[in-house]
Amino acid sequence: MSPIPKRGTVAVTGAAGFLGGWVVRLLLDKGYRVRACVRDAGDDKRVGFLKAMPGYASGRLTLHSADLDNPGCFDEPFRGANGVAHISHVSAYTDPDYVQRTCDHIIASINGSGSVTRVVVTSSIAAVISEMDLAEIVRRPVFYEDRFPDETNPKRTPERGQGYSMGKLIAERAFAEAAEASGRWDAITCCPGDNVGPIQSAHQKDMGPWQHLIEQMLEGHCRQTDVYRPWMTVDVRDDAACHIGLLESAEVWNGERYIAWSTDTRNVEDICADIDRLLPEIGHDTPAVTDPFPERIQAREAEFRAIWALGDLRNDRIRAVTEVTFRPLDDSIRDCVESLLSVAKVQPKVRAPGA
Ligand SMILES: NC(=O)c1ccc[n+]([C@@H]2O[C@H](COP(=O)([O-])OP(=O)(O)OC[C@H]3O[C@@H](n4cnc5c(N)ncnc54)[C@H](OP(=O)(O)O)[C@@H]3O)[C@@H](O)[C@H]2O)c1
Repeated sequence: MSPIPKRGTVAVTGAAGFLGGWVVRLLLDKGYRVRACVRDAGDDKRVGFLKAMPGYASGRLTLHSADLDNPGCFDEPFRGANGVAHISHVSAYTDPDYVQRTCDHIIASINGSGSVTRVVVTSSIAAVISEMDLAEIVRRPVFYEDRFPDETNPKRTPERGQGYSMGKLIAERAFAEAAEASGRWDAITCCPGDNVGPIQSAHQKDMGPWQHLIEQMLEGHCRQTDVYRPWMTVDVRDDAACHIGLLESAEVWNGERYIAWSTDTRNVEDICADIDRLLPEIGHDTPAVTDPFPERIQAREAEFRAIWALGDLRNDRIRAVTEVTFRPLDDSIRDCVESLLSVAKVQPKVRAPGA
Protein backbone atom coordinates (compact mmCIF):
# COMPACT_ATOMS: atom_id res chain seq x y z
CA MET A 1 0.00 0.00 0.00
CA SER A 2 1.11 3.56 -0.58
CA PRO A 3 2.85 5.87 1.81
CA ILE A 4 2.07 9.55 1.23
CA PRO A 5 4.14 11.36 -1.39
CA LYS A 6 6.75 13.88 -0.27
CA ARG A 7 5.17 17.35 0.05
CA GLY A 8 1.71 15.85 -0.44
CA THR A 9 -1.44 16.91 1.40
CA VAL A 10 -2.29 15.65 4.88
CA ALA A 11 -5.49 16.21 6.87
CA VAL A 12 -4.99 16.27 10.65
CA THR A 13 -7.87 15.78 13.09
CA GLY A 14 -7.45 17.20 16.59
CA ALA A 15 -5.13 19.84 15.11
CA ALA A 16 -5.73 22.34 17.93
CA GLY A 17 -4.63 19.76 20.49
CA PHE A 18 -1.26 19.23 22.17
CA LEU A 19 -0.11 16.44 19.84
CA GLY A 20 -2.10 17.51 16.76
CA GLY A 21 -0.60 20.99 16.90
CA TRP A 22 2.92 19.55 16.75
CA VAL A 23 2.00 17.21 13.90
CA VAL A 24 0.76 20.25 11.94
CA ARG A 25 3.93 22.23 12.67
CA LEU A 26 6.32 19.41 11.78
CA LEU A 27 4.39 18.52 8.59
CA LEU A 28 4.68 22.16 7.46
CA ASP A 29 8.40 22.14 8.33
CA LYS A 30 8.81 19.11 6.03
CA GLY A 31 7.07 20.83 3.13
CA TYR A 32 3.63 19.22 3.27
CA ARG A 33 0.29 20.94 2.64
CA VAL A 34 -1.84 20.60 5.76
CA ARG A 35 -5.59 20.68 6.37
CA ALA A 36 -6.02 21.26 10.08
CA CYS A 37 -9.38 19.92 11.30
CA VAL A 38 -10.64 21.60 14.46
CA ARG A 39 -14.06 21.83 16.00
CA ASP A 40 -14.34 25.61 15.57
CA ALA A 41 -12.02 27.35 13.14
CA GLY A 42 -13.30 30.68 14.45
CA ASP A 43 -12.24 30.05 18.06
CA ASP A 44 -8.95 31.94 18.05
CA LYS A 45 -8.19 31.06 21.68
CA ARG A 46 -7.77 27.47 20.47
CA VAL A 47 -6.64 27.92 16.87
CA GLY A 48 -4.81 31.26 16.95
CA PHE A 49 -1.47 29.46 17.24
CA LEU A 50 -2.24 27.59 14.00
CA LYS A 51 -3.15 30.83 12.21
CA ALA A 52 0.18 32.27 13.39
CA MET A 53 2.13 29.53 11.60
CA PRO A 54 3.83 30.86 8.44
CA GLY A 55 2.11 28.24 6.26
CA TYR A 56 -1.27 29.75 7.11
CA ALA A 57 -0.30 33.10 5.62
CA SER A 58 0.60 31.48 2.31
CA GLY A 59 -2.38 29.10 2.26
CA ARG A 60 -0.29 25.92 2.58
CA LEU A 61 -2.08 25.41 5.90
CA THR A 62 -5.86 25.67 5.89
CA LEU A 63 -8.30 25.31 8.81
CA HIS A 64 -11.56 23.36 8.65
CA SER A 65 -14.37 23.18 11.21
CA ALA A 66 -15.41 19.55 11.69
CA ASP A 67 -16.92 17.69 14.63
CA LEU A 68 -16.61 13.90 14.71
CA ASP A 69 -20.17 13.72 15.96
CA ASN A 70 -21.50 14.96 12.60
CA PRO A 71 -21.42 12.48 9.71
CA GLY A 72 -19.98 13.89 6.50
CA CYS A 73 -18.19 16.83 8.05
CA PHE A 74 -14.76 15.48 7.10
CA ASP A 75 -15.78 14.98 3.43
CA GLU A 76 -14.50 18.37 2.35
CA PRO A 77 -11.13 18.44 4.19
CA PHE A 78 -10.29 14.85 3.18
CA ARG A 79 -11.19 15.22 -0.52
CA GLY A 80 -7.99 15.15 -2.57
CA ALA A 81 -5.75 14.58 0.49
CA ASN A 82 -3.03 11.90 0.36
CA GLY A 83 -2.98 11.07 4.04
CA VAL A 84 -4.97 11.46 7.24
CA ALA A 85 -3.53 11.71 10.74
CA HIS A 86 -6.55 10.94 12.91
CA ILE A 87 -5.36 12.27 16.23
CA SER A 88 -8.43 13.80 17.86
CA HIS A 89 -10.17 12.55 20.93
CA VAL A 90 -13.89 11.78 20.75
CA SER A 91 -16.37 13.77 22.83
CA ALA A 92 -16.57 10.98 25.48
CA TYR A 93 -15.34 7.42 25.97
CA THR A 94 -18.28 6.16 28.03
CA ASP A 95 -20.34 4.64 25.19
CA PRO A 96 -18.64 2.10 22.87
CA ASP A 97 -21.45 2.47 20.27
CA TYR A 98 -20.82 6.20 20.07
CA VAL A 99 -17.06 5.61 19.62
CA GLN A 100 -17.82 3.16 16.81
CA ARG A 101 -20.10 5.75 15.15
CA THR A 102 -17.35 8.39 15.18
CA CYS A 103 -15.01 5.88 13.50
CA ASP A 104 -17.68 5.19 10.89
CA HIS A 105 -17.97 8.92 10.15
CA ILE A 106 -14.24 9.30 9.55
CA ILE A 107 -14.02 6.07 7.56
CA ALA A 108 -16.87 7.14 5.25
CA SER A 109 -15.05 10.41 4.55
CA ILE A 110 -11.80 8.53 3.83
CA ASN A 111 -13.58 6.17 1.46
CA GLY A 112 -15.27 9.10 -0.24
CA SER A 113 -12.07 11.12 -0.60
CA GLY A 114 -10.96 9.35 -3.77
CA SER A 115 -7.35 10.04 -2.84
CA VAL A 116 -6.30 8.97 0.69
CA THR A 117 -3.83 6.05 0.72
CA ARG A 118 -2.51 6.12 4.29
CA VAL A 119 -4.22 6.80 7.61
CA VAL A 120 -2.44 6.94 10.95
CA VAL A 121 -4.80 6.40 13.87
CA THR A 122 -3.73 7.62 17.30
CA SER A 123 -4.37 5.03 19.97
CA SER A 124 -2.53 4.86 23.31
CA ILE A 125 -0.40 2.68 25.54
CA ALA A 126 -3.70 2.29 27.44
CA ALA A 127 -4.57 -0.09 24.58
CA VAL A 128 -1.32 -2.01 25.25
CA ILE A 129 -1.18 -2.24 29.03
CA SER A 130 -3.72 -1.44 31.70
CA GLU A 131 -3.45 -0.50 35.34
CA MET A 132 -6.30 -2.99 35.84
CA ASP A 133 -4.03 -5.91 34.93
CA LEU A 134 -1.17 -5.77 37.43
CA ALA A 135 -1.04 -9.56 37.81
CA GLU A 136 -0.76 -9.83 34.06
CA ILE A 137 2.20 -7.43 34.08
CA VAL A 138 3.99 -9.81 36.44
CA ARG A 139 3.33 -12.69 34.03
CA ARG A 140 4.32 -10.74 30.89
CA PRO A 141 6.57 -7.82 31.80
CA VAL A 142 7.71 -6.95 28.26
CA PHE A 143 5.68 -4.02 26.88
CA TYR A 144 5.58 -4.35 23.10
CA GLU A 145 3.10 -3.98 20.25
CA ASP A 146 1.41 -7.37 20.21
CA ARG A 147 0.05 -7.15 23.69
CA PHE A 148 -3.36 -5.81 24.63
CA PRO A 149 -5.10 -5.17 27.94
CA ASP A 150 -6.79 -8.27 29.27
CA GLU A 151 -10.20 -7.98 27.63
CA THR A 152 -11.60 -10.73 29.84
CA ASN A 153 -10.88 -8.77 33.03
CA PRO A 154 -14.34 -8.16 34.56
CA LYS A 155 -13.15 -4.73 35.74
CA ARG A 156 -12.57 -3.68 32.14
CA THR A 157 -15.74 -1.63 31.68
CA PRO A 158 -16.42 2.05 31.00
CA GLU A 159 -17.99 2.22 34.48
CA ARG A 160 -14.63 1.18 35.98
CA GLY A 161 -12.78 3.87 34.00
CA GLN A 162 -11.72 1.60 31.14
CA GLY A 163 -13.83 3.27 28.42
CA TYR A 164 -10.74 5.02 27.05
CA SER A 165 -8.67 1.87 26.48
CA MET A 166 -11.73 0.03 25.14
CA GLY A 167 -12.55 2.93 22.81
CA LYS A 168 -9.01 2.98 21.46
CA LEU A 169 -9.21 -0.73 20.60
CA ILE A 170 -12.57 -0.20 18.90
CA ALA A 171 -10.94 2.45 16.72
CA GLU A 172 -7.82 0.40 15.95
CA ARG A 173 -9.95 -2.50 14.73
CA ALA A 174 -12.55 -0.39 12.91
CA PHE A 175 -9.92 1.37 10.82
CA ALA A 176 -7.88 -1.74 10.01
CA GLU A 177 -10.99 -3.67 8.94
CA ALA A 178 -12.35 -0.78 6.86
CA ALA A 179 -9.00 -0.31 5.14
CA GLU A 180 -8.80 -4.01 4.36
CA ALA A 181 -12.32 -3.94 2.91
CA SER A 182 -11.54 -0.86 0.84
CA GLY A 183 -8.24 -2.09 -0.63
CA ARG A 184 -7.41 1.54 -1.48
CA TRP A 185 -5.87 2.76 1.77
CA ASP A 186 -4.18 1.33 4.82
CA ALA A 187 -4.50 2.14 8.52
CA ILE A 188 -1.51 2.14 10.84
CA THR A 189 -1.97 2.62 14.57
CA CYS A 190 0.34 4.69 16.74
CA CYS A 191 0.19 3.97 20.49
CA PRO A 192 1.90 6.89 22.25
CA GLY A 193 3.16 6.87 25.81
CA ASP A 194 2.68 9.79 28.20
CA ASN A 195 3.27 12.97 26.18
CA VAL A 196 5.48 15.58 27.82
CA GLY A 197 6.94 18.66 26.14
CA PRO A 198 6.18 22.22 25.14
CA ILE A 199 2.66 23.54 24.63
CA GLN A 200 2.14 25.89 21.70
CA SER A 201 -1.05 27.60 22.89
CA ALA A 202 -2.22 28.62 26.38
CA HIS A 203 -5.40 26.50 26.21
CA GLN A 204 -3.28 23.34 25.94
CA LYS A 205 -2.09 23.72 29.55
CA ASP A 206 -5.46 22.38 30.72
CA MET A 207 -5.34 19.30 28.48
CA GLY A 208 -2.96 16.43 28.55
CA PRO A 209 -3.06 15.15 31.28
CA TRP A 210 0.71 15.25 31.70
CA GLN A 211 1.41 18.92 30.93
CA HIS A 212 -1.56 19.84 33.13
CA LEU A 213 -0.05 17.83 35.99
CA ILE A 214 3.25 19.69 35.53
CA GLU A 215 1.31 22.97 35.57
CA GLN A 216 -0.22 21.90 38.90
CA MET A 217 3.23 20.98 40.26
CA LEU A 218 4.47 24.45 39.33
CA GLU A 219 1.52 25.90 41.23
CA GLY A 220 2.26 23.80 44.32
CA HIS A 221 0.24 20.59 43.96
CA CYS A 222 1.54 17.15 43.11
CA ARG A 223 -0.85 14.20 43.10
CA GLN A 224 0.23 10.57 43.28
CA THR A 225 -0.31 8.58 40.06
CA ASP A 226 -2.97 5.83 39.92
CA VAL A 227 -1.64 2.51 41.27
CA TYR A 228 1.79 4.20 41.61
CA ARG A 229 2.50 3.83 37.90
CA PRO A 230 5.59 5.72 36.80
CA TRP A 231 5.25 8.09 33.85
CA MET A 232 6.21 6.24 30.66
CA THR A 233 7.02 9.12 28.44
CA VAL A 234 7.50 10.40 24.93
CA ASP A 235 8.29 13.96 23.99
CA VAL A 236 5.27 15.39 22.17
CA ARG A 237 7.55 16.53 19.31
CA ASP A 238 9.01 13.03 18.93
CA ASP A 239 5.49 11.57 19.06
CA ALA A 240 4.51 13.93 16.23
CA ALA A 241 7.58 12.85 14.25
CA CYS A 242 6.54 9.21 14.76
CA HIS A 243 3.09 9.95 13.31
CA ILE A 244 4.65 11.59 10.26
CA GLY A 245 7.16 8.75 9.91
CA LEU A 246 4.29 6.25 9.85
CA LEU A 247 2.54 8.27 7.12
CA GLU A 248 5.75 8.24 5.07
CA SER A 249 7.03 4.72 5.68
CA ALA A 250 7.04 2.12 2.92
CA GLU A 251 7.76 -0.61 5.48
CA VAL A 252 4.47 -0.66 7.39
CA TRP A 253 1.33 -2.63 6.64
CA ASN A 254 -2.36 -2.26 7.23
CA GLY A 255 -3.40 -3.21 10.76
CA GLU A 256 0.06 -2.83 12.30
CA ARG A 257 0.50 -0.88 15.50
CA TYR A 258 3.58 0.91 16.75
CA ILE A 259 4.29 2.12 20.28
CA ALA A 260 5.76 5.62 20.46
CA TRP A 261 7.68 6.15 23.67
CA SER A 262 11.27 6.87 24.59
CA THR A 263 11.34 3.99 27.12
CA ASP A 264 12.18 6.55 29.84
CA THR A 265 10.15 6.05 33.01
CA ARG A 266 10.07 8.27 36.08
CA ASN A 267 7.99 8.45 39.24
CA VAL A 268 5.78 11.46 39.79
CA GLU A 269 7.70 12.75 42.84
CA ASP A 270 10.92 12.74 40.82
CA ILE A 271 9.29 14.66 37.98
CA CYS A 272 8.11 17.23 40.50
CA ALA A 273 11.61 17.55 41.99
CA ASP A 274 13.06 17.79 38.46
CA ILE A 275 11.57 21.26 38.01
CA ASP A 276 14.01 22.68 40.56
CA ARG A 277 16.87 20.41 39.46
CA LEU A 278 16.57 21.40 35.79
CA LEU A 279 15.58 25.04 36.26
CA PRO A 280 16.97 26.23 39.63
CA GLU A 281 16.57 29.82 38.41
CA ILE A 282 12.82 29.59 39.05
CA GLY A 283 13.29 28.86 42.79
CA HIS A 284 10.38 26.41 42.60
CA ASP A 285 8.93 25.49 45.96
CA THR A 286 8.73 21.73 45.35
CA PRO A 287 5.46 20.45 46.87
CA ALA A 288 5.10 17.18 48.75
CA VAL A 289 3.16 14.47 46.92
CA THR A 290 -0.49 14.16 47.93
CA ASP A 291 -1.65 10.57 48.02
CA PRO A 292 -5.46 10.47 47.60
CA PHE A 293 -5.80 6.69 47.76
CA PRO A 294 -7.46 4.79 50.64
CA GLU A 295 -5.17 3.36 53.30
CA ARG A 296 -5.57 -0.20 52.00
CA ILE A 297 -4.09 0.93 48.64
CA GLN A 298 -1.39 3.06 50.26
CA ALA A 299 -0.31 -0.01 52.24
CA ARG A 300 0.48 -1.72 48.92
CA GLU A 301 2.60 1.11 47.45
CA ALA A 302 5.89 -0.82 47.62
CA GLU A 303 4.26 -3.90 46.07
CA PHE A 304 2.77 -1.90 43.17
CA ARG A 305 5.99 -0.02 42.52
CA ALA A 306 7.91 -3.30 42.40
CA ILE A 307 5.50 -4.61 39.76
CA TRP A 308 5.94 -1.53 37.57
CA ALA A 309 9.70 -1.82 37.98
CA LEU A 310 9.47 -5.17 36.15
CA GLY A 311 8.18 -3.41 33.03
CA ASP A 312 10.53 -3.75 30.08
CA LEU A 313 9.55 -1.04 27.58
CA ARG A 314 10.37 -1.59 23.91
CA ASN A 315 10.48 0.86 21.01
CA ASP A 316 12.71 -0.92 18.51
CA ARG A 317 9.94 -1.37 15.93
CA ILE A 318 9.00 2.28 15.59
CA ARG A 319 12.64 3.33 15.55
CA ALA A 320 13.26 0.89 12.70
CA VAL A 321 10.46 2.16 10.44
CA THR A 322 10.58 5.90 11.26
CA GLU A 323 14.21 6.49 12.27
CA VAL A 324 12.95 8.84 15.00
CA THR A 325 15.46 9.54 17.76
CA PHE A 326 13.78 10.03 21.13
CA ARG A 327 15.05 12.93 23.20
CA PRO A 328 15.71 12.53 26.95
CA LEU A 329 12.86 13.18 29.40
CA ASP A 330 14.88 15.97 31.07
CA ASP A 331 14.61 18.01 27.85
CA SER A 332 10.86 17.39 27.64
CA ILE A 333 10.27 18.47 31.26
CA ARG A 334 12.43 21.58 30.86
CA ASP A 335 10.70 22.64 27.64
CA CYS A 336 7.26 21.87 29.07
CA VAL A 337 7.92 24.05 32.13
CA GLU A 338 9.35 26.91 30.07
CA SER A 339 6.36 26.84 27.71
CA LEU A 340 3.90 26.83 30.62
CA LEU A 341 5.60 29.96 31.96
CA SER A 342 6.06 31.76 28.64
CA VAL A 343 3.00 30.67 26.59
CA ALA A 344 0.38 30.11 29.31
CA LYS A 345 1.79 32.60 31.86
CA VAL A 346 1.56 30.07 34.69
CA GLN A 347 2.69 31.63 37.98
CA PRO A 348 4.97 29.17 39.79
CA LYS A 349 4.98 28.86 43.58
CA VAL A 350 8.48 29.93 44.58
CA ARG A 351 10.46 29.49 47.80
CA ALA A 352 10.50 32.29 50.28
CA PRO A 353 13.70 34.37 50.00
CA GLY A 354 16.52 32.62 51.87
CA ALA A 355 14.58 29.32 52.17
N1 LIG B 1 -1.44 13.30 25.67
C1 LIG B 1 -1.03 12.06 25.89
O1 LIG B 1 -0.20 11.81 26.78
C2 LIG B 1 -1.55 10.92 25.05
C3 LIG B 1 -1.06 9.62 25.28
C4 LIG B 1 -1.53 8.57 24.49
C5 LIG B 1 -2.45 8.81 23.50
N2 LIG B 1 -2.91 10.06 23.29
C6 LIG B 1 -3.88 10.30 22.22
O2 LIG B 1 -3.39 11.31 21.39
C7 LIG B 1 -4.47 12.07 20.86
C8 LIG B 1 -4.22 13.53 21.11
O3 LIG B 1 -4.06 13.75 22.49
P1 LIG B 1 -3.76 15.21 23.03
O4 LIG B 1 -3.11 15.07 24.34
O5 LIG B 1 -3.11 16.03 21.99
O6 LIG B 1 -5.26 15.71 23.27
P2 LIG B 1 -5.84 17.17 23.33
O7 LIG B 1 -4.77 18.19 23.51
O8 LIG B 1 -6.95 17.13 24.31
O9 LIG B 1 -6.43 17.37 21.87
C9 LIG B 1 -7.45 16.54 21.42
C10 LIG B 1 -8.27 17.26 20.37
O10 LIG B 1 -9.40 16.42 20.10
C11 LIG B 1 -10.38 17.26 19.58
N3 LIG B 1 -11.71 16.71 19.75
C12 LIG B 1 -12.29 16.26 20.90
N4 LIG B 1 -13.54 15.85 20.64
C13 LIG B 1 -13.75 16.04 19.31
C14 LIG B 1 -14.85 15.84 18.44
N5 LIG B 1 -16.00 15.36 18.88
N6 LIG B 1 -14.70 16.15 17.13
C15 LIG B 1 -13.56 16.67 16.66
N7 LIG B 1 -12.46 16.90 17.44
C16 LIG B 1 -12.58 16.59 18.74
C17 LIG B 1 -10.24 18.62 20.29
O11 LIG B 1 -10.48 19.57 19.29
P3 LIG B 1 -10.78 21.14 19.50
O12 LIG B 1 -9.61 21.67 20.27
O13 LIG B 1 -10.82 21.67 18.10
O14 LIG B 1 -12.05 21.27 20.24
C18 LIG B 1 -8.81 18.60 20.81
O15 LIG B 1 -8.02 19.63 20.28
C19 LIG B 1 -5.73 11.51 21.52
O16 LIG B 1 -6.35 10.62 20.62
C20 LIG B 1 -5.22 10.78 22.74
O17 LIG B 1 -6.04 9.72 23.12
C21 LIG B 1 -2.48 11.14 24.03
